[in-house]
Amino acid sequence: MDNFYSLREQFFSFFEKRGHVPVPSSSLIPDDQSVLLTTAGMQQFKPYYTQIRDAKKDFSSQRVVSIQKCFRTTDFDEVGDDTHLTFFEMMGNFSFAPLGSDDPTSYGTEGYFKTSAIVWGYEYITKELGIDPSRIHVTIFSGDNVIPRDDEAYRIWKDVVGIDPSRIREGGREDNFWGPTGVEGPCGPTAEIYVDGVEVWNIVFNEYYARMSGEQLEFEKSETPGIDTGMGFERLLSVVEGKSTFFETSAFLPSIQQIQKDAPHLSVTQTRMLVDHMRGSIFLIGDGVLPSNKEAGYVLRRLLRKLITLAIQEGLEKELFTTLQQQIIDQYSPLYPELSLVQTQQIWDEEYDRFKESITKGLKELEKHIEKKDVITAHDAFYIYETFGVPFDVIQSVVPQEKQKEFSYKDFEKAQKEHQEISRAGSEKKFGGHGLLLDTGELKAEDEQELAKVIRFHTATHLLQAALREVRGESITQMGSDITAKRLRFDFSAEEKLTQEELQRVEALVQDYIQKDLPVTKEVMKKEDALTSGALHFFKEQYPDEVTVYTIGQGDTVVSKEFCGGPHVERTSEIGSFHITKHESVGRGIKRIRAILT
Ligand code: ALA
Repeated sequence: MDNFYSLREQFFSFFEKRGHVPVPSSSLIPDDQSVLLTTAGMQQFKPYYTQIRDAKKDFSSQRVVSIQKCFRTTDFDEVGDDTHLTFFEMMGNFSFAPLGSDDPTSYGTEGYFKTSAIVWGYEYITKELGIDPSRIHVTIFSGDNVIPRDDEAYRIWKDVVGIDPSRIREGGREDNFWGPTGVEGPCGPTAEIYVDGVEVWNIVFNEYYARMSGEQLEFEKSETPGIDTGMGFERLLSVVEGKSTFFETSAFLPSIQQIQKDAPHLSVTQTRMLVDHMRGSIFLIGDGVLPSNKEAGYVLRRLLRKLITLAIQEGLEKELFTTLQQQIIDQYSPLYPELSLVQTQQIWDEEYDRFKESITKGLKELEKHIEKKDVITAHDAFYIYETFGVPFDVIQSVVPQEKQKEFSYKDFEKAQKEHQEISRAGSEKKFGGHGLLLDTGELKAEDEQELAKVIRFHTATHLLQAALREVRGESITQMGSDITAKRLRFDFSAEEKLTQEELQRVEALVQDYIQKDLPVTKEVMKKEDALTSGALHFFKEQYPDEVTVYTIGQGDTVVSKEFCGGPHVERTSEIGSFHITKHESVGRGIKRIRAILT
């Protein structure tokens, strides 16, 4: 276990010696609303690159170093092989406003640029970690018709570091240019360090700023370029410990061995997925995320449901999960004190109880489908997912390949979209013969009477969010929503509970919106247009190119605008009378309101 802690210290101390100030990891839920989850170390530093904030003032240095908690949903379905994870830690050194000399032998606190970043990166890998230069090759950006080749980085590798040109390779946009996909912000060409053919360090020269121009990003030269580097901790650990995959390193080995002992019948892929998803859930929960159908809550739910399905499919006992949670939290809580075993277990138990039966039924139903039918389509998969909550990738793994027809994730999303159109229409008997009249995930109704009630609660939930933002400001965001025919339950981000007076104001505001008899309108828009319209939105990656936005009020009286699949009432007066029944704190930074309608 030694390297697991000492590698971090060694990294911090190397850069601290070179004038960097250590900054703690920020939350997995970023302040930056343009991204759903924190996916890179530089995210918390964005305002320093653009000089909106002053690093000298905040850190007493233009140089910082961090190890950042990261979560990438893009690799979800790859987890289980040797090289993909959802949750991981990223080590990085950063420099803002490089007005200094960029002399790698000067250990001051001014900003630096390419020479120092490259020289220190190489020095850390070869001298500090002692990795033989014969195992290393490096890269630079080859240039394209928009951004020129990085001649300077090439020169530094060759002349300053002294690397043989045969070990300097070039890559295009895909590999050697970094910037969050489709999002405005600092970006630029990269230089990378590879060990034994595996990329370990990505050194980004933030020389450009990507700006949205219409639907495209345009790159302008930044007036205040900076350095952003990222090195996956788990990957570096596998290099240091001489392992071919990080699952064999001290970061994972205790958990992997625990599972091999408790459930030796699981395959290698299942074992790895179990550890990865459990880590991911624990860290999301640690940052206050609750399972829901939106935003980060949806990511958490997806992880948990996959674990629950695995438990059912493979007959895993609850104790196995408890032991694993305990083990991971013991290992990581000295570094991340926000991790909570109690909170993790509570959320796990709730989600397990909620979905166990449903998923068991879903898997049985799926087996029946497979027996009865020659082909299974994405529509069948969607029905199983929507009715029973079985995740699509699980369905995909259960349905024999030869029976799968139009069965890609894209087909599944298409089926989902078509379904949303139908559920928006309100009362169509989509689930005729299967018991439920409406099931959008957030809303469920068995009959017409229930349907009318949950729709009223649904619109009331939008009004409640609008009122909360009116009273408490725009930092309030939805963390979860649960609606039954009897009450609504709304979870939102807030450090402090509302005071009695604030609660009364919220209640009065909602009632006021209701009495104004505001119209509720639905509009299908291009996602980009909807985003620029300022409509509240959640998990942006989950949205198709066309989205539905519900607006309450019109002209000057617009009180709410949200991405939403509906259905809703036509006018707010249909909602009735709104009463808050309970307000409580349900986790770090998360508050809950329950309300009824009379
Ligand atoms: N921001 C860069 C990355 O994520 C370092 O790879």
